[in-house]
Amino acid sequence: MPIRNKKIILGVCGSIAAYKAAFLVRLLVKEGAEVQVIMTQAAQDFITPLTLATLSKRPVLSEFSSNLTTGQWNNHVDLGLWADAIMIAPASAHTLSKLANGHCHDLLTAVYLSARCPVWVAPAMDLDMYQHPSVQNNINTLKSVGNYVIDAEDGELASGLSGVGRLAEPEHIVTTLSEHFQKRLSLEGKQVLITAGPTQEPIDPVRYLTNASSGKMGYAIALEAVERGATVTLVSGPTSLQISHPQIEVHSVTTAQEMMDAADEKFQQADIAVFAAAVSDYAPAKKEDQKIKKKTNKLTLSLVKTPDIAQTLGNKKRPDQVLVGFALETHNELEQANVKLEKKNLDIVVLNSLNDPGAGFSYDTNQITIVSRKDTTPKSYLLKDKKEVAKDIWNYIEDYEV
Ligand code: C5P
Repeated sequence: MPIRNKKIILGVCGSIAAYKAAFLVRLLVKEGAEVQVIMTQAAQDFITPLTLATLSKRPVLSEFSSNLTTGQWNNHVDLGLWADAIMIAPASAHTLSKLANGHCHDLLTAVYLSARCPVWVAPAMDLDMYQHPSVQNNINTLKSVGNYVIDAEDGELASGLSGVGRLAEPEHIVTTLSEHFQKRLSLEGKQVLITAGPTQEPIDPVRYLTNASSGKMGYAIALEAVERGATVTLVSGPTSLQISHPQIEVHSVTTAQEMMDAADEKFQQADIAVFAAAVSDYAPAKKEDQKIKKKTNKLTLSLVKTPDIAQTLGNKKRPDQVLVGFALETHNELEQANVKLEKKNLDIVVLNSLNDPGAGFSYDTNQITIVSRKDTTPKSYLLKDKKEVAKDIWNYIEDYEV
């Protein structure tokens, strides 16, 4: 019973699915958890605090102050630090927006901002609301700063419409928490260095050479590493992604040389390095001080090779370090992956082919094949969400280390 004695804050928001919070509290209490319910004002229109207080065997909290005359108040900082996990279920569109934007005018949002434990949101709303870009943006923002989302499910909705928007079933929510507490912190004590994203090589003050890398794969690898207990240095080229986690130190860089310098500085202390960045292989020999004018029919740019970060650090590799590179190829993929293993002195190469639909740069999914020094027989995986791919990569690295 991984949830036994765990301290869980259950945030309940204004949604018809709030009635399911009663089942959720019941299940969590049955598993031996200590459950502190915090309701938003709107949630109380859907289910009474008395129901949830009785089931959780604790007073339900909602306001900062429980008694204005005596000055008794509910200390959001203490509550945030008390919790082993925060589960916000159902999470309404309104609360998702407040959480994503750092608003904190009620107890639940203030506790969220004060917490250091993992936070889950389980959205519930009508299908059009759920699909609205504003809501999806908020969900993505919450994910990007390290929160977890339990996706809404497909089915009949209170509005009479049918589609995705139903709160995940309480059993599923409890299983998610259980799995989290059961997880072995298999990378605890490990220092991980990750490069991610593209680089930009300036041509003049307004132009640069770059590529279509989104950084999603590298960021997913970083998040999965901290999930498993590692401390991560993420050296990232320019991306639109945000990441914030107490165990991730982000170094934002622009050029290949800057990425090289930042990675080199952290390499000695790294136990594992994952080179997921799409580093520009060439950079303009000279950055023009002024914008290049459109004068001639032909313009020749002179390019010079950038440092190969994986190879430079591969040459310095200690026997106790594990180095993982990526290969994005259009032809002779496996052969190229094995060449990279040797040439760059890597332990593992993750191959993603541009020929596989849904795999590669800006997709949310990826399809990989892995080869390693210990096992050159390729291990192929199915097309998956990059978060799941990150798990496969870490499982492979952990098996390799044994
Ligand atoms: O040689 P190629 O670019 O195909 O190798 C890809 C692998 O090498 C990736 O792991 C990438 O992050 C790394 N790399 C690097 N520095 C470069 C070029 C590639 O670290 N300049």
